[in-house]
Amino acid sequence: MTHSALPGQPFIAYQDGQLCVEGARVADLAREHSTPLFVYSKASMLAALAAYQKGFAGRKAQICYAMKANSSLSILKLFAQAGCGFDIVSGGELERVLAAGGSPAKIIFSGVGKTRAEMRRALEVGIQCFNVESEEELDVLSEVASSMGKVAPVSIRVNPNVDPKTHPYISTGLKGNKFGISHERTVPVYKHAASLKGLKVVGIDCHIGSQITTVAPYLDAMDRILDLVKAIEAAGIPIEHIDFGGGLGINYEGTQPPAADDLWQQLLAKLDARGFGQRHLMIEPGRSLVGNAGVCVTEVLYLKPGEQKNFCIVDAAMNDLPRPAMYQAFHSIVPVQPREGAQTTYEVVGPVCESGDWIGHDRDLNINSGDLLAVLSAGAYCMSMASNYNTRGRAAEVLVDGAKALLMRERETTQDQMLREKLV
Ligand code: LLP
Repeated sequence: MTHSALPGQPFIAYQDGQLCVEGARVADLAREHSTPLFVYSKASMLAALAAYQKGFAGRKAQICYAMKANSSLSILKLFAQAGCGFDIVSGGELERVLAAGGSPAKIIFSGVGKTRAEMRRALEVGIQCFNVESEEELDVLSEVASSMGKVAPVSIRVNPNVDPKTHPYISTGLKGNKFGISHERTVPVYKHAASLKGLKVVGIDCHIGSQITTVAPYLDAMDRILDLVKAIEAAGIPIEHIDFGGGLGINYEGTQPPAADDLWQQLLAKLDARGFGQRHLMIEPGRSLVGNAGVCVTEVLYLKPGEQKNFCIVDAAMNDLPRPAMYQAFHSIVPVQPREGAQTTYEVVGPVCESGDWIGHDRDLNINSGDLLAVLSAGAYCMSMASNYNTRGRAAEVLVDGAKALLMRERETTQDQMLREKLV
């Protein structure tokens, strides 16, 4: 039996000329559930989590999965059972965690625009902490908590003004971004928070961006945060936990981000050197836990030779895989059952009616219509960002565990899409 794992994807491999996710043949799954289809490896997600857990061995640390990366219930259940907490950004995400059996006591609530209703619900179920992003939000949260006879645990998101050197849409820790409180304002804002009756200050928080592939921006941000912790504590406000956010990148195209345990070895060395090694740490990884665990399987509908370009029209589109259109993101595209012979260069595109609907530029493939392709690294920010544009139902999802494959989400029907509409 031949076996060749794909680069950076130890649980996705060709076995006897067939793409497999763990022990399941992708072509069989596509036949059974049709396409486009997301297929995830359970072992890959648990291995990604284990790298963080290894990095934090012997430390007081809590991993809160940033579920915006992939909020499907079965994935939340998997992480909840593995001991993770969750970083949420909406009341909807809160209800998903509860439905998946996650513990409210391990939920942190981030985001610049929490509504009063969302705050109320989060207080009612007793979440661990609110990551507050503005002075006005502090006042509103205090008022909401007081009106319920409760005290809200808060951490303030500080904007360390560090360049994570990633796509501008996913940089979040620079001065010009809408996130957090400027580090110059941090101590006065903490004093204000500590003076509000409905709040209890418990931590400090930052998140500098996403798909970060080097260690340096994290080290810079950490230095700035530790300086602030010193200043806040000197003002008489104890900081129980430090939350460093998420952001660690994955390998999409030859970029080799540090492994989670390597990154944390370097960060922990700095924490130790600066005397903060015993502090309770929190992190909010999203992409690095799920990104490389998923593929999107799609069928080639038509091959359309053109004067300037050859088009490979597939049945997945920007509504299933929005990252190329939104961020010019690269995802590898590989055949599910590779053919011998010459390759042709294709624009791989979906059926949606706009030129922005592309999945990959200039891809060399030897394919016929009816063949299956797998779009790799599709575990993060694909299904969770999927839409119904062009009245396309969202794809089905399968979770593979060894040779077992379980349907974790049925394909959305057109009826599902029209459910809440009225003919007026
Ligand atoms: N914590 C906070 C406060 C965040 O805003 C984010 C992501 C995370 C944690 C998780 O970051 P991660 O570990 O996944 O990088 N849709 C974009 C990514 C947007 C990230 C937004 N915030 C993409 O597809 O690249």
